[in-house]
Amino acid sequence: MKIALIPGDGIGKEVMTEGKKVIDAVSEKLNFEISWNEYNFGAERYLKEGKTLTEDDLKELSKNKSIYFSAIGDPRVKPGILEKGILLAIRFYFDEYVNLRPIKFFEGIAPVLKDKNAKDINFYAVRENTEDFYVGIGSNEFKKRHKDEFKILRNLYNVKFNLDIESDKDEIAYQIGILSKKGCERIIKYAFELAKRKNLDLVTSVDKANVLNFYTPWRKIFEKISKNYRNIKTEYLYVDAASMFFVLKPERFKVVVVPNMFGDILTDLGAGICGGLGTAASGNINPDGISMFEPVHGSAPDIAGKGIANPIAQILAGAMMLDELKKPEAANLIIKAVEDVLKEGKVRTPDLGGNAKTKDVGDEIVKKIKEM
Ligand code: NAD
Ligand code: IPM
Ligand code: MN
Repeated sequence: MKIALIPGDGIGKEVMTEGKKVIDAVSEKLNFEISWNEYNFGAERYLKEGKTLTEDDLKELSKNKSIYFSAIGDPRVKPGILEKGILLAIRFYFDEYVNLRPIKFFEGIAPVLKDKNAKDINFYAVRENTEDFYVGIGSNEFKKRHKDEFKILRNLYNVKFNLDIESDKDEIAYQIGILSKKGCERIIKYAFELAKRKNLDLVTSVDKANVLNFYTPWRKIFEKISKNYRNIKTEYLYVDAASMFFVLKPERFKVVVVPNMFGDILTDLGAGICGGLGTAASGNINPDGISMFEPVHGSAPDIAGKGIANPIAQILAGAMMLDELKKPEAANLIIKAVEDVLKEGKVRTPDLGGNAKTKDVGDEIVKKIKEM
C-alpha cells in the first residue's frame, strides 16, 4: 500500500517519526506492506522555493492510497500561507468533506474536569470540512474597492451601516461563508451513518441559526435526514451552549455534527477537556476518495526542537488511517498499545505531567505492540 507521508513543520517532523515507526511495527507484526512516499511540503520548501503546493504536487499525491500528515505552520511565514496553501489545499482538492475527530479521554490521564473520566468523555465530532467560512472568499486587508464577489453586499453596507464603500472614505474587510445543499446533506448523512455503525443513539447538530442565516437550511436538512434514522435521537444546540455543555456535561454527547469553523474551535475545546492536544487525532475523509489523517494540533513552535511533543495524537491518527484502509486489526493493536501505555503512566511527555521524550513514548508503544 502506497502511503504519502508529510511530516511538515515544527513538532510535525518529531511526532511523525514516531507515527511512522508505530505503523511500521504493526505492519510487520500483521504481515502487510506499507510503502512510504515522503514529501517535503512545508515551511522549508516554501522559504527556499516559494512554493506551497503545485498542481503537480497534488497529482503526485493522488498516486497514494492515503495521506499521513503531521502539521504545518512556521513563525517565519505569514499566517495563512502554509495553512491554506498546503493543508486546506489538500482537504479541498481531494474533497475530504468529513473531518472526523474523536473526543476521547484516556484512562490514566489526570482529569481536567472534576469527576469526569474515560466513561464520561467518549464521543465523535463530525466537522464539515469543505465549506462555511473556509471557502476562501474574503479580503485579507481593509479595502475601499472590492471585487465582483462583493457587489451583492454593497447595498447592504450602504443602507444598513451607512458606510460608503465606493468612496475613499470607508474601508472594510469581509469574509463570506457558503453552505451548499449537497454539502450539508452529505456531512449530516455521514454523521447519522456513523451513529448507526457505532450503535450510538444520539446525533447533536450544532449551529448558530439564531444569528447567521445560512445555518437555517443546515438545520432543515438535519431535520429531514434524521427522519431516515428513526432509532437515533436528535438535538439542536447553538454553538455557545454546546461549548458550555462540552465542559459541564460531556457525557451527554455521542455524535456531534458541526459546520467547519465552529467545528475547528469546538474540537480544540474537546481536546482540552481530554487533557490537551497531545492525544487528539483526526481524519479528513472522503469516503470515496483519498483521505488524509493528522493530529488535531499544529506545529507548536513553542516546544518545537525540544523533543518533548506528545506523539500520541499522531500515532492515533495512524490508527484511524489503518481503520479507514480496512485494517481494523492493525488499528486496534495501536489503540490498545496507546491505552496500555497511558494507563501505566510510566512513560509520558510533559503535557501529561511526565518527563519522557517524544521518542520514548513512540518506543514504548512499539514495545507494547511487539509484546501483544
Ligand atoms: P498548536 O496546536 O500548534 O499548539 C497549541 C498549544 O498546544 C501549544 O502550547 C503547543 O505546545 C501545545 N501542543 C500542541 N501539540 C502538542 C503535542 N503534540 N504535545 C504537547 N503539546 C502540544 O496551535 P498554535 O500554536 O495555535 O499554532 C501553531 C502553528 O500551527 C500555526 O502556524 C498554526 O496555523 C498551525 N496549525 C496547523 C495545524 C495543522 O497543520 N493541522 C493545526 C493547527 C494549527
Ligand atoms: C485544524 C487547523 C486548521 C483548520 C488550520 C491550520 C487551517 O486549525 O486542522 O484544526 O482551521 O482547520
Ligand atoms: Mn484547529
